[in-house]
Amino acid sequence: MIDFKKLAKKYSTPLYVYDFDYIKERYLDLKGAFKARKSLICYAVKANSNLSVIKHLVDLGAGCDCVSIGEIRRAFLAGAKKYKIIFSGVGKTDEEIREAIERDILMINIESEGEFERIEEISQNMQKEVRISIRVNPDIDPKTHPYISTGLDENKFGVDIDTAKRLYIKAKNSKFIEPIGIHFHIGSQLTELEPIKEASLKIANLVRSLKVLDIDIKFFDVGGGLGIRYKDEELIKPYDYAQAILSTLSGLDLTIVCEPGRFLVGNSGYLLTKVLYEKVNKSKRFIIVDAAMNDLIRPSLYKAFHEVEVLDKEGEKNRADVVGPVCESGDFLAKDVPLPKTSHNDLLVVKSVGAYGFTMSSNYNTRPRPAEVAVFREEEVLADRLIRRRETFEDLIACEKDYL
Ligand code: LLP
Repeated sequence: MIDFKKLAKKYSTPLYVYDFDYIKERYLDLKGAFKARKSLICYAVKANSNLSVIKHLVDLGAGCDCVSIGEIRRAFLAGAKKYKIIFSGVGKTDEEIREAIERDILMINIESEGEFERIEEISQNMQKEVRISIRVNPDIDPKTHPYISTGLDENKFGVDIDTAKRLYIKAKNSKFIEPIGIHFHIGSQLTELEPIKEASLKIANLVRSLKVLDIDIKFFDVGGGLGIRYKDEELIKPYDYAQAILSTLSGLDLTIVCEPGRFLVGNSGYLLTKVLYEKVNKSKRFIIVDAAMNDLIRPSLYKAFHEVEVLDKEGEKNRADVVGPVCESGDFLAKDVPLPKTSHNDLLVVKSVGAYGFTMSSNYNTRPRPAEVAVFREEEVLADRLIRRRETFEDLIACEKDYL
């Protein structure tokens, strides 16, 4: 059991806490599920890009899935092997493409014909060959929240199957572009297996038709998206996930690449926050805490549910909104949840915030972002380590103060 009270006392609140042993367990679980084939798990850095989190996964053997040159630099800093780094994203700039080629990463994942042409021109100018994959949009409904669904025709991601085929042929005839991978990603927080299997089959058939054209794909990248439990979701088991994908690949010699973010880190994270006040407006009860939408925006942005627990408080539970100090009605961490009566300085734990928690935080209302702490078992005791110090006011004005 993590001693949240001790951590809150030692590091103050709001505070992000990540259970590193849990992250390791999740990684090994998923890696094990693919053991029948060659596989590479590229952690989706966007989920939680703290250098120590990346390093923890890299030390276990993970690669990194990055969506900006900033994330690629983080991956390198955390010790990721260049041949395990992939670069995705719909809008890569020339500078980003150039640096990715210079750094000689495993592959750049192309998302449009325009991008193909840019990459070809840049690699030609650099006289350096570049390995690529193409993100194919399989046009399949992943049955998840519309904001995080990405594999439908109406989404901005990837190219359709016919365009992909044309681009692969173009790549084959190009001196500087070497097609080695194929990629799809249908959405995030997936809880149904069928759409993944369907997409995998579509893309596997594309690989087969490319083979006939003498285009030999080596990396089959199934994206990320494995869902986690926030409340009571029925989940896909890693073994079933792997089997569903592998069942579509008979006769193909491929390395499976997957890009999980949330699955690896989501449930590992806790946000500790202290009660400032309780108040009742008419009949509505509010618990006002020291964390806010700038620290964790998922509830405000997606109406996402995160379980909240008040530590060491018994007694009758009545419905309340847990809200922060930010000047917006949309600033809440939980809505209408049963919680015991609280008092000043009681500690609340917001759960499953390890993915898209800190990485989506901001300084809105000139609020310094929280510190981050890792907990892990060391010789049978639970140790803790600061992995990002709390921001200060000085940090917040650092880029402005010289221009006053
Ligand atoms: N690969 C690609 C190409 C992606 O676009 C994403 C996530 C991932 C991998 C990792 O997906 P995961 O395994 O974490 O589901 N901010 C939203 C989630 C946005 C996901 C964007 N893409 C949230 O808080 O729910």
